[in-house]
Amino acid sequence: MSADTHLPKDAAPGGTELIRFDRVTKRFGAHTVLDALDFTVSAGKHVTLIGPSGSGKTTILRLLMTLLKPDEGTIKVGDAYLTHEEKGGRLIPAGEKHIREVRKNIGMVFQQFNLFPNMKVLRNITEAPVHVLGLGKDEAEERARGLLDLVGLTAHLDKYPTQLSGGQQQRVAIARALAMRPQVLLLDEVTSALDPELVAGVLDVLRDIARTTDITMLCVTHEMSFARDISDDVLMFDAGRVIESGPPEKIFTDPEHERTREFLGAVL
Ligand SMILES: Nc1ncnc2c1ncn2[C@@H]1O[C@H](COP(=O)(O)OP(=O)(O)OP(=O)(O)O)[C@@H](O)[C@H]1O
Ligand SMILES: [Mg+2]
Repeated sequence: MSADTHLPKDAAPGGTELIRFDRVTKRFGAHTVLDALDFTVSAGKHVTLIGPSGSGKTTILRLLMTLLKPDEGTIKVGDAYLTHEEKGGRLIPAGEKHIREVRKNIGMVFQQFNLFPNMKVLRNITEAPVHVLGLGKDEAEERARGLLDLVGLTAHLDKYPTQLSGGQQQRVAIARALAMRPQVLLLDEVTSALDPELVAGVLDVLRDIARTTDITMLCVTHEMSFARDISDDVLMFDAGRVIESGPPEKIFTDPEHERTREFLGAVL
């Protein structure tokens, strides 16, 4: 066990805080999905969210993508509030422009790939860098080729998504997210829609990215051996709160909470 285990994460070397949820509440009708949720993720860390179906894992990622807005509380990415702006010492709801700027730091890969079906692979990857970041076409294509090499799909850059397997499509989606050079990569059960024989290839690509880049990862997965490999920290959710967190060796082998033991008993 390292000497700094008991220090707050912010005090860890290089552990600048990148994401902060501060008393975030999200309700759907009468159902409170996130209940004054607090958690932080330090820059460069790989954090996995686990918890029962319906516990709010996807909701957390969708809040970070600004596909949803919190009912209460604040979310910070780096120094900026995600859905609020500071004006005259007060926090007010952020305008679209502010939200777009902060969101540029965040990339997401979805369970269902969500590639643009009418665009070839290369253009799927260059589209946002050109239109959102204002990159020139040549620079965007060079970046896209580098990423296709990283995900092992150089031979497929001229195909349409429907001409690819699910695993290949998901690797394009990973390259597409990385093309924006986000500080944070959100991964929501990215292998759960794949045929079993395609899962390993996608997880290998993600392991590579975790090992060779300094990107911060926030990952929801049911692939517990993958979570164990890549995670610095695992957060166990239940009933809208983090009930337990810690390094994977601890959470997966010696959890504190009965609820965590039950959950792991069902999925491991
Ligand atoms: N747009 C919505 N409208 C109403 N209820 C919603 C909406 N999105 C999510 N919910 C509810 O919020 C709860 C949390 O959903 P969420 O998708 O975050 O769970 P999850 O932890 O990702 O579950 P799973 O492991 O099954 O993916 C669920 O009870 C779900 O039914
Ligand atoms: Mg989910």
